[in-house]
Amino acid sequence: MAEALKIGVAGLGTVGASLVRIIHERQESLAVSCGRAIEITAVSARNRDKDRGIDLSGVTWFDDPVDMAKNGEIEVLVELIGGADGAAREAVEAALARGVHVVTANKALLAESGVALAAAAEEKGLLLNFEAAVAGGIPVIKAMRESLTGNTISRVYGIMNGTCNYILTRMEKEGLSFEDCLKEAQRLGYAEADPTFDIEGNDTAHKLAIMTALAFGCEISCDDIYLEGISNISQEDIRAAAELGYRIKLLGVAQRTEGGIEQRVHPTMVPHDTVIAQVDGVTNAVAIESDILGDLLMVGPGAGGDATASAVLGDVADIAKSRPGIQTVAALGRPAKSLTPYKKARMRSHEGGYFIRLRVVDRIGVIAAIARRMADNQISLESIVQHSANGGGEAPTKTIIMVTHATTELSVRNAVSAMESDGYIVGKPQVIRIEKP
Ligand SMILES: NC(=O)c1ccc[n+]([C@@H]2O[C@H](COP(=O)([O-])OP(=O)(O)OC[C@H]3O[C@@H](n4cnc5c(N)ncnc54)[C@H](OP(=O)(O)O)[C@@H]3O)[C@@H](O)[C@H]2O)c1
Repeated sequence: MAEALKIGVAGLGTVGASLVRIIHERQESLAVSCGRAIEITAVSARNRDKDRGIDLSGVTWFDDPVDMAKNGEIEVLVELIGGADGAAREAVEAALARGVHVVTANKALLAESGVALAAAAEEKGLLLNFEAAVAGGIPVIKAMRESLTGNTISRVYGIMNGTCNYILTRMEKEGLSFEDCLKEAQRLGYAEADPTFDIEGNDTAHKLAIMTALAFGCEISCDDIYLEGISNISQEDIRAAAELGYRIKLLGVAQRTEGGIEQRVHPTMVPHDTVIAQVDGVTNAVAIESDILGDLLMVGPGAGGDATASAVLGDVADIAKSRPGIQTVAALGRPAKSLTPYKKARMRSHEGGYFIRLRVVDRIGVIAAIARRMADNQISLESIVQHSANGGGEAPTKTIIMVTHATTELSVRNAVSAMESDGYIVGKPQVIRIEKP
């Protein structure tokens, strides 16, 4: 049997500790399937004294992961620290510069510096694997990078943040407010103490930016993503969506359009009878539409120590199976030099159906005025529902819920702002895009 593959694990938190435990527990079967053993020779974390429930005897400890990348007796650096900059980035750069393969679960790092890191890996004939960076344990990177080679991908979308999906699911099933569900997610350890990054959609945006590059062969462009989180989704929206046959999910969507590539993360209404609408709780789902294969949907655990470590281990095993010195798979599916510049489509030209919820003063002529504004903007309605007066201040009000046929974002915004200037709208109108698989 060939010599063991020596790996160094930087970061021994939720994912790192799971990875070390799993590799120790499955040493024999890994050696059989990879044709060589996988040996953890070095580790690095901040606190050497922390009990992590893993056996680190015989393993060299480094206080500094960059030192480990530069000087550890390792052929692979497994980066499980996190963060776009700092120790994670420096360790990865040092490993690639030294000729050490890299496996990482770090979406923030890849979203910011993925192209430069891919180029650095290619230059040295190294592998840069990052399956766990998108949708945790779901093998979406491998599918896009390898299995779908030759396909032209037209759209990728998915539920890629377990915290948001947990909150939206609880809001619907238990009738609780956004704030209560967020507190529950924090109590259960799904959401961070500062959950902004999850609920405002940034985490999904990082994952989407990576998938976009793989899907369309373009450079990663995380700053060009249209972003809207879930914090303004109310019980009223959830109930109205259900009444109309939809559920609300935070989706990341990337698609090719005539005007360029559209990347957007926002609350989305999906038809109730679709598979993606049934994906509940912390589970993730990623859909890929391509011309040869057709539609592919992958559903599974998007986070958690073991699920994420499973994806990291798959990446390490790929390196163990590869022939030394020969890089077989380009990190972003094609050589970094051949990635095209990112061309952003204007969000205002996004076409689709829309859900619009308005609270209006209850007086004669309002419905006719709304209909006129919709017609002025060439918007046709699939349905309109009116709820009887439901309070909302001094004057009685009504809630109007409309679902449009396909139209543009610009038309909807123009129609809604015209209605606001007409003076019969109370509060802030709610507009949610509809995505039809
Ligand atoms: N958790 C998940 O479900 C999940 C899912 C998908 C992807 N990921 C990604 O996986 C990566 C790790 O996530 P995690 O949840 O395992 O994080 P975590 O539990 O916070 O663990 C981070 C680890 O990094 C170590 N660390 C932090 N700064 C360091 C430094 N300057 N030098 C050395 N070690 C340092 C910490 O050391 P101490 O333990 O000593 O403090 C800790 O062991 C992140 O990129 C994350 O986005 C996580």
